[in-house]
Amino acid sequence: MDSLSEKQNFLVIHGPNLNMLGKREPEVYGRATLDDINLSLKETGKRLGVNVEVFQSNHEGAIVDKIQEIMSSHQGLIINPGAYTHTSVAIRDALLLLSIPVVEVHLSNIYKREPFRHQSMVAGVATGQISGLGSDGYFLALEYLVRRCQAVV
Ligand code: DQA
Repeated sequence: MDSLSEKQNFLVIHGPNLNMLGKREPEVYGRATLDDINLSLKETGKRLGVNVEVFQSNHEGAIVDKIQEIMSSHQGLIINPGAYTHTSVAIRDALLLLSIPVVEVHLSNIYKREPFRHQSMVAGVATGQISGLGSDGYFLALEYLVRRCQAVV
């Protein structure tokens, strides 16, 4: 398993406004920036022997395009759809195209917040959800996906 192409590929998608982490409501979302989180995810991937790709967009269609792109190239997906969690049938439909495990991650506990955040369009089509563990949620999701995917190789 030396060459990059033989490694398993995992994608992390960050939805709208998550590019503002660090500046955006730090009492809710924490002080780490998206770059901090992405760098640590890539380092964790190296330690686990897998490739971690990261993608952020503020645009629903761009997120749909990215999900379609990985249909046959990746072994797992972590997605924090941001506010699109609560509204996007398009992202939900795109996720239904995938036959790989998908973990939905939220930095905040969406069930402790405003009622409109309690509903996730994505939860019903994801493998599982982590909500409220801050940026640790991404790392736990990655460890889960790697463990799950390596168990079936
Ligand atoms: C979020 C929760 C969403 O309700 C919100 O719109 C976000 C971030 C979270 O990570 O806690 O943008 O997905």
